[in-house]
Amino acid sequence: MNSKPIGIFDSGLGGLTVLKEIKSLLPKENIVYFGDTARLPYGNKSKSTIIKFSTESILFLLKERVKLVVVACNTSSSLALGHLKNIFKIPIIGVIEAGADKALTISKKRRVGVIGTRSTIESKSYQSYLRRKDKGLKVFSKACPLFVPLVEEGLRNGPLVRKTLSLYLDTFKKSKVDALILGCTHYPLLKKPIASFLKNTIIIDSAKEVAKKTREVLINSNLERGANRKGLAKYFVTDDGKSFSQLANLFLKETINKPRRVNV
Ligand code: DGL
Repeated sequence: MNSKPIGIFDSGLGGLTVLKEIKSLLPKENIVYFGDTARLPYGNKSKSTIIKFSTESILFLLKERVKLVVVACNTSSSLALGHLKNIFKIPIIGVIEAGADKALTISKKRRVGVIGTRSTIESKSYQSYLRRKDKGLKVFSKACPLFVPLVEEGLRNGPLVRKTLSLYLDTFKKSKVDALILGCTHYPLLKKPIASFLKNTIIIDSAKEVAKKTREVLINSNLERGANRKGLAKYFVTDDGKSFSQLANLFLKETINKPRRVNV
């Protein structure tokens, strides 16, 4: 048993999709959320920059005495996870394996699609993991950089969304994937329109899978919080927290206290 909080970090507020699932699966756990809002987006930055930013995020979370870190950002998980696991002793969970493992279990045709930021797709993180597990599996990937601003503008339907869906997802109709991994923190908010665009495809929301993985690690490492009370969440950001609180509503469907602005 361990009453310290779980640390979650992301480039911004997209990681709240992961926090939401962790809170719902592990309601007794305390959580410290860190959003590096001053330096986002990570999705178009280089590996060395992502490693630097992600390392600084974990150093901040360690000051908050977290017992485990969830790298909610797909871009950080793709480019920095190996490095982070090498330098920190604390358990660190990324988001790639959880979503990819789910795809491996549900794709009957062994044709899987992956969408994410440019850096995630270029890193081939999903592809390498999936192909390592199943050599015969066909993986089709596509960077969808416009999805993040659409979500942040609160757009989830209408002509602009339809046009963007068609721009990015038509290719998956042609390649006949039967599973599509949402490889970016923001994409679960577009799950409905994506699912209705790709009718015969199972859409995989990694956030849910990551929450299950977090529970598994807590149980196996005997790190669960023993208390029988609801856990609390604290939020930290590196830029002004006003727009974070407003948008957080969209991601969490609940109002949160204004996050504290910190420097890393
Ligand atoms: N959090 C990022 C990800 O999951 C998306 C936003 C960004 O580019 O920073 O890849």
